Amino acid sequence: MSPNATLIEPIKAPFNQVVRKLIRASEKQPEKPVTKSLNSWTGKIHCMDAIKLMESLPAESVGVIVTSPPYNIKNSTGNGLKNGSGGKWPGAGLIKGYSTHNDAMPHDEYVRWQRNCLTAMIRVLRSDGAIFYNHKWRVQGGLLQDRSDIVSGFPVRQIVIWKRKGGINFNPGYFLPTYEVIYLIAKPDFKLAPKANAQGDVWEIPQARDNNHPAPFPVELAQRCISATVGGVILDPFMGSGTTAIAAEILNREWIGVEKSSKYCKMALKRIKEHQKTKLV
Ligand SMILES: C[S@@+](CC[C@H](N)C(=O)[O-])C[C@H]1O[C@@H](n2cnc3c(N)ncnc32)[C@H](O)[C@@H]1O
Repeated sequence: MSPNATLIEPIKAPFNQVVRKLIRASEKQPEKPVTKSLNSWTGKIHCMDAIKLMESLPAESVGVIVTSPPYNIKNSTGNGLKNGSGGKWPGAGLIKGYSTHNDAMPHDEYVRWQRNCLTAMIRVLRSDGAIFYNHKWRVQGGLLQDRSDIVSGFPVRQIVIWKRKGGINFNPGYFLPTYEVIYLIAKPDFKLAPKANAQGDVWEIPQARDNNHPAPFPVELAQRCISATVGGVILDPFMGSGTTAIAAEILNREWIGVEKSSKYCKMALKRIKEHQKTKLV
């Protein structure tokens, strides 16, 4: 045996444990950074209104925002949400709205609310920070509702298409919807992480599975956004089931979560704890 060779013992422990040991030995994760000025906010789901929480944060303090707001989907004139006979499709996850938000605001009010949310996000974002704002385009009254009424005036740098693998077809008269958009809204000094630009602007990622929240995005989507950035605390003002926090944990980044519904806050905490238990430490 050469002096550098490692003795490979017969595997007695379960396969997973062996793999974990091997990974642990080969890659030591760097320490998670600690942003002292945000100590009382990080690593927590703040069970409250998004704007209220953001107003309490210091200006220009967070590096990245990854978020998917309520889409106001129940205010839809129909289309994919109706079942073809005029009624709203009963199996759709969001048919009842969220637990504390009915997702059916008058359109103008919704746009005003989302613009106020974006204004609050821009205030807390560092000068080298970026917002990944996930939304969905739809046709209403025969016209494309591309959400430009929400994002106009904000520094939208690029639109990424999230191509889901499939979806639920609500209506036999419509093609199956398979994409959503992510607005990259960036402050002037924002640069992508090295080589992140190579992945292009169409991301093919299957939708979330095994999640009881009515409208989660997949961990991989949040992970892609976060890993395309170099640093700073991650904020999700619409944290839902905790997906962004889990992605941040995987990437060893600090995070702050906000969610209005106590039901989803509990769901998020449970998911994050379960993830932390399986984390290789
Ligand atoms: C599209 S979901 C986010 C899902 C999340 N990305 C996930 O993967 O679980 C939007 C969330 O915003 C929450 N919400 C609605 N109004 C809110 C408000 N004013 N402040 C904070 N959260 C709110 C809803 O309860 C819902 O969980």
